[in-house]
Amino acid sequence: MLTDEQILELRSHFPILREKTYLYNCSQGALSDAVEAGLHEYAASWRTSAAPWDDWMVAYQGLRVALARLINAQPEEVAIVTSASAGINPIANALQFDGLDGRNKVVMSEYEFPTMGQIWLAQRPRGAEIQFLDGVNNTAPTECYERAIDKTTRIVPLTQVSFVNGFRSDVAAIAKIAHAQGALLFLDGYQDCGTRPIDVKALDVDFFVTGTLKYLLGPPGLGFLYVRRELIETLTPPITSWMAQRDVFAFNTKCLDPSPDARRFEGGSPSIPNIYLARPAIDLLTGIGLDNVAAQIERLTRAFLKGVRDLHIDCKTPSSSVGPLVVLRAKDAASVLAKLTARGIAVSTRRDGVRFAFHVYNTLDDVNVALTALEDNLELMNIISEPRA
Ligand SMILES: Cc1ncc(COP(=O)(O)O)c(C=O)c1O
Repeated sequence: MLTDEQILELRSHFPILREKTYLYNCSQGALSDAVEAGLHEYAASWRTSAAPWDDWMVAYQGLRVALARLINAQPEEVAIVTSASAGINPIANALQFDGLDGRNKVVMSEYEFPTMGQIWLAQRPRGAEIQFLDGVNNTAPTECYERAIDKTTRIVPLTQVSFVNGFRSDVAAIAKIAHAQGALLFLDGYQDCGTRPIDVKALDVDFFVTGTLKYLLGPPGLGFLYVRRELIETLTPPITSWMAQRDVFAFNTKCLDPSPDARRFEGGSPSIPNIYLARPAIDLLTGIGLDNVAAQIERLTRAFLKGVRDLHIDCKTPSSSVGPLVVLRAKDAASVLAKLTARGIAVSTRRDGVRFAFHVYNTLDDVNVALTALEDNLELMNIISEPRA
């Protein structure tokens, strides 16, 4: 657990925290001076070298190693992509839905991020049948997956934490259910990765995707895909590129020979500026220690949830949540956003929900500032007589 002094010191490296109560982390993390320095390092590498690609390839491979370490995978199991969607698409397009082995069903909850629904819906012309599970009071219970997953299920896309209500899935349990039926599990960690340690092997997921711009405190335009070693060569994506080939620098236009590693799922030339920004962000978080990050987020989330309960505000997120995202139901979310923005509180809205997202650099002061602003604008919030247990 970090001390208040350590958190104060950490905050001094994020200039925006001097100006704002920054609870916008579920949309975009704050910019640190380390990440800004990465941008300058990239510019310098381009300005000073006549052939910067050698250095850039070193940075690209170095990031792959750091990302693999972050999730307890091997570097060969990691593809560097430009978005979560760019990681999900090659897998969706490589899987078969022709029904020859009796499997064409894709089972997911209605609380998945839209891109997850849309990418698998786009597989319907190839034979995929998409089954959306109805939520139960802003939760997606494991039992609903148990009932829906069967011998016809090809894959289960699963959000680790839902963007719309902060609900946390029981990933290991759902992976077990999927595997018992012979189905695959695809975890979307975007609303969690960077807030606590993650171990894709212990969770036993087949695929994992995330991006760097939220809790990983990096830039937009960069994500990564993990594919379990044994699956990589069984999947040949129909979307490919020269950078996805076994020997990138063979320059053989007439030969299609996908890499035996997860690189076979990558697009063309990597997003080098973003790689220079993402690396210091990953190093910063691992330097703090993800256990420490999780402990601070839990402390703040619990304090915020208690304050919300005391104010009788309708909360979409379970009261037992350890964070990072708490979503409150508003009568008028746009007006709440305007009121909070005017006070220098950065939050975001989705549908009728106002999203408060905590990170390691937030403090109990931030929690109190947010609660006071809510108390002053209670008429805009949905108020309930009996707060959710
Ligand atoms: C859970 C989740 N998945 C995926 C995404 C975004 O995906 P992409 O990187 O394709 O824009 C988001 C972004 O808000 C998200 O919250």
